[in-house]
Amino acid sequence: MKTLNGKPSAGLHGTLVVPGDKSISHRGIMLGAISEGTTHLSHFLTSADCLSTLAAFQQLGVQIERDDQEVTIHGVGLHGLQASAQPLDMGNSGTTTRLISGLLAGRSFTSTLIGDASLSKRPMKRVSVPLGEMGAQIATTDGHLPMTITGSQLHSVTYQLQVASAQVKSALILAALQADQPSTFVEQLPTRDHTERMLTQFGGDITTATDGVTITVQPQPHLTGQTMTVPGDMSSAAFFMVAASLVPNSKITLKDVGLNKTRTGLLDILQRMGGNVTIDAEPTDGEPIGDLTIETADLHPITIGAAEIPAVIDELPLVALLAAKADGVSRITGAEELRVKETDRIAAIVQEFKKLGINIEELPDGFVIDGRTPWHVTDTQLGAHDDHRIGMVLGVAGLLVDQPLELAGADSVRISYPEFFDDLDTLLPKE
Ligand code: S3P
Repeated sequence: MKTLNGKPSAGLHGTLVVPGDKSISHRGIMLGAISEGTTHLSHFLTSADCLSTLAAFQQLGVQIERDDQEVTIHGVGLHGLQASAQPLDMGNSGTTTRLISGLLAGRSFTSTLIGDASLSKRPMKRVSVPLGEMGAQIATTDGHLPMTITGSQLHSVTYQLQVASAQVKSALILAALQADQPSTFVEQLPTRDHTERMLTQFGGDITTATDGVTITVQPQPHLTGQTMTVPGDMSSAAFFMVAASLVPNSKITLKDVGLNKTRTGLLDILQRMGGNVTIDAEPTDGEPIGDLTIETADLHPITIGAAEIPAVIDELPLVALLAAKADGVSRITGAEELRVKETDRIAAIVQEFKKLGINIEELPDGFVIDGRTPWHVTDTQLGAHDDHRIGMVLGVAGLLVDQPLELAGADSVRISYPEFFDDLDTLLPKE
């Protein structure tokens, strides 16, 4: 149980470097593993999810050394992974599970994937079905983990994705690398493109058409190990962006945050709501990065629909919090994917926000929030629902009420941001 201390006496102040991007850290290990030569990752995210990926690839015969946030991967090449004697434990990580499925589907051995209770409830047919169209043999347990992947010779496909998911897209791309002919995938909406960018950097041949959703992958590339610094995770920075926007008299700077357009939905939404954000970005060769300075602002309500959801998918709990302090009614729809995250995030947000007296109405695919209703705590016992992002959003909400609150399951932050509460403390006034 963690005590949230309530409103700070003064605003948030200071400068912070947030941990490395989770999506990019996972992909750095994976592409490093299937490349020739050595890959060095700096500012690697040392959270439980990324360590699940690292351990899984070690089990598949890849030599990987880690010294805090510095990781060295001795690549084994596209065909060099080896069978693991034990099941591969995906922990809590959906990204590890979905992406590794695409890689293992084309290997010549059998793998079994297992995960924790939360991950074992999450849908896996979204990868097993399209990979099956490429010739993969994947047996799920009623559409869930445990899942057994019997390696097969994969063939090329043209496939229209049924769900706007970068995890599914990336699984298909990784499978397509092992196919006989080029494959084409058509997304419903553009989703985060880290796999495409990184694959190009490692020497792969992947193109996205001008429509932004048609991706063609050339098979059997020669990938070469790379040296890269992982940008700060926008999805982690977002908690402080929202905290500084809402806690009066705040001004903070977040350094070297990833500004990939497929990830900056929260930044755009905050600006549209009237947020006070200054972006200081320099051009880079790889993933765009920049420094963000955020000051407190009075916010207006917002309407968000399906087309905007992928770029803000992991930050929607924070959008709900912004809406709960805006001067009107906000409406977020088209976000049904939130129901199949680490927990049902729509249900979790509604349940926990109601304890704070927030005027929130649950929709099948989102929520309606009237920020004009004054908050009024009716229950001081909050719960993270075994979900890191729910734990952190409640940590920020705790800065907006007068009284202390208790948060059960606060250690869920280990999944993406183990030092979250310590970093938040560094921005708070020293009482
Ligand atoms: C991720 C994609 C998103 C996101 C997750 C990370 C990735 O999931 O929610 O945190 O790294 O590809 P979906 O593909 O399920 O939307």
